[in-house]
Amino acid sequence: MDWTRAKVLVTGGAGFLGSNLCHALAERGAKVTALDGFLFGGGANPANLDGCQVELVRADIREGDLRPLCEGVDVIFNLAAQTSHMGGQRDPLADIAVNAVAQVRLIQAAREAAPHAVVVHASTRQFYGRPIRLPVDETHPVAPPDANGVSKFAGEQYWMIEHRTAGRPVVSLRLTNCYGPRLRIRDARQTFLGIWIRCVLEGRPFEVWGGSQLRDMAYVDDVTQAFLRAASTPACHGNVYNLGGSPPASLLEIAELTVREAGGGAHFTTREFPQDRAAIDIGSYHADDSAFRAATGWAPEVSLQEGIARSLDWYRTRLAAYL
Ligand SMILES: NC(=O)c1ccc[n+]([C@@H]2O[C@H](COP(=O)([O-])OP(=O)(O)OC[C@H]3O[C@@H](n4cnc5c(N)ncnc54)[C@H](O)[C@@H]3O)[C@@H](O)[C@H]2O)c1
Repeated sequence: MDWTRAKVLVTGGAGFLGSNLCHALAERGAKVTALDGFLFGGGANPANLDGCQVELVRADIREGDLRPLCEGVDVIFNLAAQTSHMGGQRDPLADIAVNAVAQVRLIQAAREAAPHAVVVHASTRQFYGRPIRLPVDETHPVAPPDANGVSKFAGEQYWMIEHRTAGRPVVSLRLTNCYGPRLRIRDARQTFLGIWIRCVLEGRPFEVWGGSQLRDMAYVDDVTQAFLRAASTPACHGNVYNLGGSPPASLLEIAELTVREAGGGAHFTTREFPQDRAAIDIGSYHADDSAFRAATGWAPEVSLQEGIARSLDWYRTRLAAYL
Protein backbone atom coordinates (compact mmCIF):
# COMPACT_ATOMS: atom_id res chain seq x y z
CA MET A 1 0.00 0.00 0.00
CA ASP A 2 1.29 3.44 -0.91
CA TRP A 3 0.44 5.24 2.31
CA THR A 4 1.43 8.64 0.88
CA ARG A 5 -1.70 8.50 -1.30
CA ALA A 6 -3.99 6.90 1.27
CA LYS A 7 -6.96 8.55 2.96
CA VAL A 8 -7.47 6.80 6.26
CA LEU A 9 -10.04 6.84 9.07
CA VAL A 10 -8.93 5.60 12.49
CA THR A 11 -11.83 5.12 14.92
CA GLY A 12 -10.70 5.27 18.53
CA GLY A 13 -7.82 7.36 17.20
CA ALA A 14 -7.09 9.16 20.48
CA GLY A 15 -6.88 5.89 22.42
CA PHE A 16 -3.86 3.73 23.11
CA LEU A 17 -3.58 1.57 19.98
CA GLY A 18 -5.42 4.01 17.69
CA SER A 19 -3.11 6.93 18.45
CA ASN A 20 0.03 4.86 17.92
CA LEU A 21 -1.41 3.85 14.56
CA CYS A 22 -2.16 7.51 13.76
CA HIS A 23 1.48 8.45 14.43
CA ALA A 24 2.74 5.66 12.18
CA LEU A 25 0.31 6.54 9.38
CA ALA A 26 1.07 10.27 9.54
CA GLU A 27 4.80 9.53 9.45
CA ARG A 28 4.19 7.55 6.26
CA GLY A 29 2.40 10.51 4.68
CA ALA A 30 -1.19 9.25 4.90
CA LYS A 31 -4.06 11.71 5.22
CA VAL A 32 -5.56 10.63 8.53
CA THR A 33 -8.78 11.41 10.33
CA ALA A 34 -8.80 10.27 13.96
CA LEU A 35 -12.34 9.82 15.25
CA ASP A 36 -12.78 9.57 19.00
CA GLY A 37 -15.59 10.16 21.46
CA PHE A 38 -13.23 10.36 24.46
CA LEU A 39 -15.27 7.86 26.40
CA PHE A 40 -15.00 8.10 30.17
CA GLY A 41 -12.73 5.43 31.61
CA GLY A 42 -11.15 4.50 28.27
CA GLY A 43 -7.68 5.13 26.94
CA ALA A 44 -8.40 8.40 25.09
CA ASN A 45 -5.96 11.15 25.94
CA PRO A 46 -5.36 14.35 23.92
CA ALA A 47 -1.64 13.98 24.73
CA ASN A 48 -1.65 10.75 22.70
CA LEU A 49 -1.83 12.78 19.50
CA ASP A 50 0.79 15.39 20.47
CA GLY A 51 2.99 16.12 17.46
CA CYS A 52 0.85 14.03 15.13
CA GLN A 53 -0.33 15.42 11.79
CA VAL A 54 -3.90 14.13 11.86
CA GLU A 55 -7.34 15.68 11.88
CA LEU A 56 -8.98 14.84 15.20
CA VAL A 57 -12.79 14.65 15.11
CA ARG A 58 -14.49 14.37 18.47
CA ALA A 59 -17.61 12.35 17.74
CA ASP A 60 -19.45 9.36 19.12
CA ILE A 61 -19.98 6.39 16.79
CA ARG A 62 -23.27 5.71 18.60
CA GLU A 63 -24.88 8.91 17.35
CA GLY A 64 -22.71 11.04 15.06
CA ASP A 65 -23.20 11.22 11.28
CA LEU A 66 -20.51 8.79 10.21
CA ARG A 67 -21.00 9.07 6.46
CA PRO A 68 -18.95 12.27 5.92
CA LEU A 69 -16.10 10.73 7.92
CA CYS A 70 -16.11 7.65 5.68
CA GLU A 71 -16.40 9.64 2.43
CA GLY A 72 -13.66 8.59 0.02
CA VAL A 73 -11.46 6.78 2.55
CA ASP A 74 -9.23 3.94 1.35
CA VAL A 75 -8.75 2.25 4.71
CA ILE A 76 -10.67 2.20 8.00
CA PHE A 77 -8.76 1.06 11.06
CA ASN A 78 -11.62 0.34 13.42
CA LEU A 79 -10.46 0.53 17.03
CA ALA A 80 -13.24 2.43 18.84
CA ALA A 81 -14.61 0.24 21.60
CA GLN A 82 -15.79 -0.02 25.15
CA THR A 83 -12.83 -2.03 26.43
CA SER A 84 -13.45 -2.40 30.16
CA HIS A 85 -14.41 -5.93 31.22
CA MET A 86 -15.77 -4.81 34.59
CA GLY A 87 -17.50 -1.89 32.84
CA GLY A 88 -19.22 -4.33 30.49
CA GLN A 89 -20.39 -6.42 33.43
CA ARG A 90 -21.76 -3.37 35.23
CA ASP A 91 -23.53 -1.91 32.19
CA PRO A 92 -23.90 -4.48 29.40
CA LEU A 93 -26.35 -2.28 27.48
CA ALA A 94 -23.79 0.53 27.16
CA ASP A 95 -21.19 -2.05 26.18
CA ILE A 96 -23.37 -3.50 23.38
CA ALA A 97 -24.26 0.02 22.22
CA VAL A 98 -20.62 0.75 21.32
CA ASN A 99 -19.19 -2.66 20.49
CA ALA A 100 -22.09 -4.08 18.51
CA VAL A 101 -24.90 -1.61 17.67
CA ALA A 102 -22.58 1.27 16.71
CA GLN A 103 -20.52 -1.16 14.62
CA VAL A 104 -23.62 -1.76 12.50
CA ARG A 105 -24.05 2.04 12.16
CA LEU A 106 -20.45 2.33 10.96
CA ILE A 107 -20.90 -0.59 8.54
CA GLN A 108 -23.96 1.11 7.03
CA ALA A 109 -22.21 4.49 6.73
CA ALA A 110 -19.15 2.89 5.14
CA ARG A 111 -21.36 0.94 2.73
CA GLU A 112 -22.75 4.23 1.42
CA ALA A 113 -19.66 6.44 1.57
CA ALA A 114 -16.68 4.13 1.14
CA PRO A 115 -17.89 0.87 -0.42
CA HIS A 116 -14.42 -0.30 -1.41
CA ALA A 117 -12.44 0.72 1.67
CA VAL A 118 -10.36 -1.95 3.39
CA VAL A 119 -11.35 -2.41 7.03
CA VAL A 120 -8.99 -3.67 9.70
CA HIS A 121 -11.04 -4.39 12.79
CA ALA A 122 -9.53 -4.56 16.28
CA SER A 123 -10.88 -7.70 17.85
CA THR A 124 -9.83 -9.54 20.99
CA ARG A 125 -8.69 -12.87 22.41
CA GLN A 126 -11.15 -12.24 25.23
CA PHE A 127 -14.06 -14.13 23.70
CA TYR A 128 -12.19 -17.44 23.58
CA GLY A 129 -12.76 -17.39 27.33
CA ARG A 130 -10.71 -19.69 29.54
CA PRO A 131 -8.61 -21.63 27.00
CA ILE A 132 -9.18 -25.36 26.78
CA ARG A 133 -5.80 -25.71 25.03
CA LEU A 134 -2.68 -23.62 24.55
CA PRO A 135 -1.59 -21.97 22.37
CA VAL A 136 -4.97 -20.75 21.15
CA ASP A 137 -5.53 -20.79 17.40
CA GLU A 138 -8.51 -19.43 15.48
CA THR A 139 -10.38 -22.77 15.61
CA HIS A 140 -10.52 -22.65 19.43
CA PRO A 141 -14.16 -22.58 20.64
CA VAL A 142 -15.62 -19.17 21.42
CA ALA A 143 -16.95 -18.98 24.98
CA PRO A 144 -17.00 -15.34 26.17
CA PRO A 145 -16.42 -15.08 29.92
CA ASP A 146 -18.11 -11.69 30.21
CA ALA A 147 -20.47 -9.22 28.51
CA ASN A 148 -17.58 -7.42 26.82
CA GLY A 149 -16.51 -10.65 25.18
CA VAL A 150 -20.02 -11.14 23.81
CA SER A 151 -20.27 -7.62 22.39
CA LYS A 152 -16.77 -7.72 20.86
CA PHE A 153 -17.54 -11.05 19.21
CA ALA A 154 -20.80 -9.67 17.82
CA GLY A 155 -19.04 -6.56 16.47
CA GLU A 156 -16.40 -8.65 14.73
CA GLN A 157 -19.00 -10.95 13.22
CA TYR A 158 -21.06 -8.05 11.78
CA TRP A 159 -17.89 -6.93 9.97
CA MET A 160 -17.18 -10.44 8.68
CA ILE A 161 -20.76 -10.68 7.41
CA GLU A 162 -20.11 -7.45 5.51
CA HIS A 163 -17.18 -9.17 3.86
CA ARG A 164 -19.23 -12.23 2.91
CA THR A 165 -22.36 -10.43 1.74
CA ALA A 166 -21.03 -7.15 0.30
CA GLY A 167 -17.53 -8.29 -0.67
CA ARG A 168 -15.81 -5.66 1.47
CA PRO A 169 -12.16 -6.46 2.23
CA VAL A 170 -12.18 -6.95 6.01
CA VAL A 171 -9.51 -8.35 8.32
CA SER A 172 -10.15 -8.88 12.00
CA LEU A 173 -7.19 -9.10 14.37
CA ARG A 174 -7.90 -10.83 17.66
CA LEU A 175 -5.37 -9.09 19.88
CA THR A 176 -3.65 -10.37 22.97
CA ASN A 177 -2.66 -8.00 25.83
CA CYS A 178 -0.92 -5.00 24.31
CA TYR A 179 1.33 -2.50 26.10
CA GLY A 180 3.70 0.35 25.46
CA PRO A 181 3.68 4.14 25.08
CA ARG A 182 0.26 5.90 25.23
CA LEU A 183 -1.31 3.13 27.33
CA ARG A 184 -3.67 4.37 30.05
CA ILE A 185 -1.57 4.04 33.21
CA ARG A 186 -3.71 6.09 35.60
CA ASP A 187 -5.38 2.95 36.93
CA ALA A 188 -5.77 -0.76 36.18
CA ARG A 189 -8.53 -0.30 33.59
CA GLN A 190 -6.24 -0.96 30.62
CA THR A 191 -3.96 -3.95 31.13
CA PHE A 192 -2.33 -4.63 34.50
CA LEU A 193 1.00 -3.37 33.18
CA GLY A 194 -0.38 0.19 33.00
CA ILE A 195 -0.84 0.57 36.74
CA TRP A 196 2.42 -1.29 37.40
CA ILE A 197 4.30 1.28 35.29
CA ARG A 198 2.65 4.12 37.18
CA CYS A 199 3.48 2.61 40.57
CA VAL A 200 7.15 1.95 39.84
CA LEU A 201 7.64 5.43 38.40
CA GLU A 202 6.02 6.90 41.53
CA GLY A 203 8.19 4.73 43.79
CA ARG A 204 5.24 2.71 45.12
CA PRO A 205 4.83 -1.08 45.27
CA PHE A 206 2.40 -2.60 42.77
CA GLU A 207 0.14 -5.61 43.23
CA VAL A 208 0.26 -8.85 41.26
CA TRP A 209 -3.03 -10.74 41.33
CA GLY A 210 -2.37 -14.46 41.15
CA GLY A 211 0.97 -14.63 39.36
CA SER A 212 1.19 -17.91 37.49
CA GLN A 213 -1.07 -16.84 34.58
CA LEU A 214 0.76 -16.77 31.25
CA ARG A 215 0.54 -13.84 28.83
CA ASP A 216 2.15 -13.19 25.43
CA MET A 217 2.42 -9.42 25.77
CA ALA A 218 2.46 -7.51 22.46
CA TYR A 219 4.50 -4.32 22.24
CA VAL A 220 2.52 -1.54 20.58
CA ASP A 221 4.96 -0.91 17.71
CA ASP A 222 4.62 -4.56 16.71
CA VAL A 223 0.83 -4.27 16.91
CA THR A 224 0.91 -1.15 14.73
CA GLN A 225 3.01 -2.99 12.16
CA ALA A 226 0.50 -5.84 12.16
CA PHE A 227 -2.39 -3.44 11.44
CA LEU A 228 -0.48 -1.85 8.55
CA ARG A 229 0.40 -5.24 7.09
CA ALA A 230 -3.16 -6.49 7.49
CA ALA A 231 -4.45 -3.53 5.48
CA SER A 232 -1.93 -3.91 2.68
CA THR A 233 -2.02 -7.71 2.26
CA PRO A 234 -5.02 -8.63 0.08
CA ALA A 235 -4.43 -12.34 0.77
CA CYS A 236 -5.54 -11.89 4.36
CA HIS A 237 -8.73 -9.93 3.61
CA GLY A 238 -11.80 -11.90 4.60
CA ASN A 239 -10.08 -13.62 7.51
CA VAL A 240 -9.90 -13.42 11.28
CA TYR A 241 -6.45 -13.82 12.81
CA ASN A 242 -5.03 -14.16 16.27
CA LEU A 243 -2.25 -11.74 17.03
CA GLY A 244 0.17 -12.58 19.82
CA GLY A 245 3.37 -10.98 20.96
CA SER A 246 6.43 -12.02 22.93
CA PRO A 247 6.88 -15.64 24.10
CA PRO A 248 4.57 -16.49 27.01
CA ALA A 249 5.68 -15.30 30.44
CA SER A 250 3.94 -15.56 33.80
CA LEU A 251 2.66 -12.45 35.53
CA LEU A 252 5.34 -13.00 38.17
CA GLU A 253 8.05 -13.08 35.50
CA ILE A 254 6.63 -9.93 33.91
CA ALA A 255 6.55 -8.26 37.33
CA GLU A 256 10.17 -9.23 38.02
CA LEU A 257 11.24 -7.87 34.63
CA THR A 258 9.42 -4.61 35.34
CA VAL A 259 11.17 -4.25 38.68
CA ARG A 260 14.55 -5.04 37.15
CA GLU A 261 14.12 -2.55 34.31
CA ALA A 262 12.85 0.15 36.69
CA GLY A 263 15.84 -0.34 39.00
CA GLY A 264 16.29 1.49 42.28
CA GLY A 265 14.07 -0.19 44.85
CA ALA A 266 10.94 -0.93 42.78
CA HIS A 267 8.98 -3.82 44.27
CA PHE A 268 5.63 -5.63 44.26
CA THR A 269 3.35 -7.71 46.45
CA THR A 270 1.19 -10.66 45.43
CA ARG A 271 -2.41 -11.34 46.39
CA GLU A 272 -5.37 -13.52 45.50
CA PHE A 273 -7.55 -12.42 42.60
CA PRO A 274 -10.38 -10.18 43.91
CA GLN A 275 -13.68 -12.09 43.94
CA ASP A 276 -15.43 -10.04 41.24
CA ARG A 277 -12.47 -10.33 38.86
CA ALA A 278 -11.90 -14.03 39.51
CA ALA A 279 -15.36 -14.73 38.10
CA ILE A 280 -14.35 -13.44 34.66
CA ASP A 281 -10.64 -14.33 34.72
CA ILE A 282 -9.45 -16.40 31.76
CA GLY A 283 -6.35 -17.93 33.40
CA SER A 284 -3.40 -18.43 31.05
CA TYR A 285 -3.45 -17.36 27.41
CA HIS A 286 -1.04 -17.29 24.54
CA ALA A 287 -1.84 -17.12 20.88
CA ASP A 288 -1.00 -19.32 17.98
CA ASP A 289 -0.67 -16.53 15.43
CA SER A 290 1.13 -18.60 12.80
CA ALA A 291 -1.69 -18.01 10.28
CA PHE A 292 -1.18 -14.24 10.37
CA ARG A 293 2.60 -14.61 10.25
CA ALA A 294 2.34 -16.89 7.22
CA ALA A 295 -0.10 -14.58 5.42
CA THR A 296 1.81 -11.34 5.98
CA GLY A 297 5.39 -12.16 6.99
CA TRP A 298 4.80 -10.25 10.23
CA ALA A 299 6.68 -11.22 13.40
CA PRO A 300 7.08 -9.28 16.64
CA GLU A 301 10.44 -7.51 16.84
CA VAL A 302 10.44 -6.07 20.35
CA SER A 303 11.26 -8.43 23.23
CA LEU A 304 9.36 -8.16 26.49
CA GLN A 305 12.42 -6.82 28.30
CA GLU A 306 13.07 -4.21 25.61
CA GLY A 307 9.39 -3.24 25.45
CA ILE A 308 9.14 -2.73 29.20
CA ALA A 309 12.37 -0.68 29.22
CA ARG A 310 11.11 1.49 26.34
CA SER A 311 7.73 1.97 28.03
CA LEU A 312 9.28 3.06 31.33
CA ASP A 313 11.61 5.48 29.52
CA TRP A 314 8.70 6.95 27.57
CA TYR A 315 6.57 7.60 30.66
CA ARG A 316 9.43 8.93 32.82
CA THR A 317 9.26 12.30 31.05
CA ARG A 318 5.49 12.35 30.47
CA LEU A 319 4.01 11.01 33.69
CA ALA A 320 1.96 14.13 34.50
CA ALA A 321 0.04 13.96 31.21
CA TYR A 322 -1.08 10.40 31.98
CA LEU A 323 -2.23 10.70 35.61
N1 LIG B 1 -5.02 -2.88 24.34
C1 LIG B 1 -5.24 -4.18 24.35
O1 LIG B 1 -4.52 -4.92 25.04
C2 LIG B 1 -6.33 -4.79 23.51
C3 LIG B 1 -6.51 -6.17 23.56
C4 LIG B 1 -7.53 -6.74 22.80
C5 LIG B 1 -8.32 -5.94 21.99
N2 LIG B 1 -8.12 -4.60 21.95
C6 LIG B 1 -9.01 -3.81 21.08
O2 LIG B 1 -8.25 -2.81 20.42
C7 LIG B 1 -9.05 -1.62 20.28
C8 LIG B 1 -8.31 -0.45 20.86
O3 LIG B 1 -8.09 -0.70 22.23
P1 LIG B 1 -7.20 0.25 23.13
O4 LIG B 1 -6.48 -0.60 24.07
O5 LIG B 1 -6.46 1.21 22.30
O6 LIG B 1 -8.34 0.97 23.98
P2 LIG B 1 -8.60 2.53 24.21
O7 LIG B 1 -9.68 2.66 25.22
O8 LIG B 1 -7.31 3.21 24.48
O9 LIG B 1 -9.12 2.98 22.79
C9 LIG B 1 -10.44 2.89 22.40
C10 LIG B 1 -10.86 4.28 21.97
O10 LIG B 1 -12.18 4.21 21.46
C11 LIG B 1 -12.83 5.40 21.85
N3 LIG B 1 -14.27 5.15 21.84
C12 LIG B 1 -14.95 4.29 22.64
N4 LIG B 1 -16.26 4.37 22.39
C13 LIG B 1 -16.42 5.28 21.42
C14 LIG B 1 -17.55 5.82 20.76
N5 LIG B 1 -18.79 5.43 21.09
N6 LIG B 1 -17.37 6.74 19.80
C15 LIG B 1 -16.11 7.16 19.49
N7 LIG B 1 -15.00 6.72 20.11
C16 LIG B 1 -15.16 5.79 21.06
C17 LIG B 1 -12.33 5.67 23.25
O11 LIG B 1 -12.53 7.03 23.64
C18 LIG B 1 -10.87 5.27 23.14
O12 LIG B 1 -10.05 6.37 22.81
C19 LIG B 1 -10.39 -1.93 20.94
O13 LIG B 1 -11.30 -2.32 19.95
C20 LIG B 1 -10.09 -3.09 21.85
O14 LIG B 1 -11.20 -3.91 22.08
C21 LIG B 1 -7.15 -4.01 22.69
